[in-house]
Amino acid sequence: MTEKELEELRSRALKELEEVRDLRALEEVRVRYLGRKGLVTAVVKGIKDLPPEARRVIGRRANELKNELEDLIRRRREELLRAAEDQAPGVDLTLPGRPYELGKLHPVTQILQEICEIFLRLGFDIARGPEVETDYYNFEALNIPPDHPARDMQDTFYLENGLLLRTHTSPIQIRTMLSRQPPLRIIAPGKVYRCDSDVRHTPMFHQVEGLLVDREVSFAHLKGLLTYFAREIFGPRTRVRFRPSYFPFTEPSAEMDIQCVICRGRGCRLCGDTGWLEILGAGMVHPHVFQAVGYDPEEWRGLAFGLGVERITMLRFGIDDIRLFYENHLYFLEQF
Ligand code: FA5
Repeated sequence: MTEKELEELRSRALKELEEVRDLRALEEVRVRYLGRKGLVTAVVKGIKDLPPEARRVIGRRANELKNELEDLIRRRREELLRAAEDQAPGVDLTLPGRPYELGKLHPVTQILQEICEIFLRLGFDIARGPEVETDYYNFEALNIPPDHPARDMQDTFYLENGLLLRTHTSPIQIRTMLSRQPPLRIIAPGKVYRCDSDVRHTPMFHQVEGLLVDREVSFAHLKGLLTYFAREIFGPRTRVRFRPSYFPFTEPSAEMDIQCVICRGRGCRLCGDTGWLEILGAGMVHPHVFQAVGYDPEEWRGLAFGLGVERITMLRFGIDDIRLFYENHLYFLEQF
């Protein structure tokens, strides 16, 4: 191999490279010159058999040519790849398709809708109110003055300017009665907030408020209505119990429990070993509340209740930790 022959080899290789139009042709050129049995590879391998003088010159040239070709081939490959990408950007038609996952309603939303449907069938309308409330609607108009010990029953998140996150949906009772005249029948679903967290409590949860105002309303109506509701949600053989309770805005007041569905009344972690789970507070509207909204307490009677939607959802689906609802693990949510 002479220097001249080496120069001719270089010219041929460069010319062939210039004519390459696709990756396959490029690979052929590479194999022809730089492959194991390639033309340039053969020259490099033969260097050791050359006379010492030629070995130095040809050796250097042959190695330069090998490096030059490797470099050119690499650059040409990048060019060809970029051109292919421009023609069909990011599309590889040979890849399998991606399956489409259908979204579902959150279990709490499903039960919230079911609760609303039960009361809509009974002739209740839906009312709504703001989540950021004033002290007046959340407490004062509900017969809870500033120094009232009942304020400690609901750990409140206070905001600036005397505003707060509503601790229950009961302020919607006040807003509704101030804007409408009796008789009326409303439910008010929504988010409420309390500084509270364990297996039965989360800092944000949902309530559905109920309010019925008419001339002839008694505690028997309240019990009948809520028992009917419980059997619609949990089935006709559901056991419920009413316990006397205290709310400043109702008199008398009660709480309703459902027999625990996890342990069937035997006692477990969810029901705190009592066999029962509280799902709502209720009572007959206090005369002070009627006075606050300008209804005549001699003429009107009211029944009111506040349901805990997460609690009802836990009982319906047999979930023993309320916090699971808000951790957003797909393997949990996909079960409903
Ligand atoms: C009230 O909030 C009253 N406003 C209910 C009421 C309305 C009484 C109208 C009378 C008339 P209570 O604080 O008990 O009451 O809450 C009502 C329900 O919300 C409870 O029975 C429970 O099911 C649920 N609940 C209370 N705190 C939490 C919490 N931190 N996380 C999840 N659910 C809760």
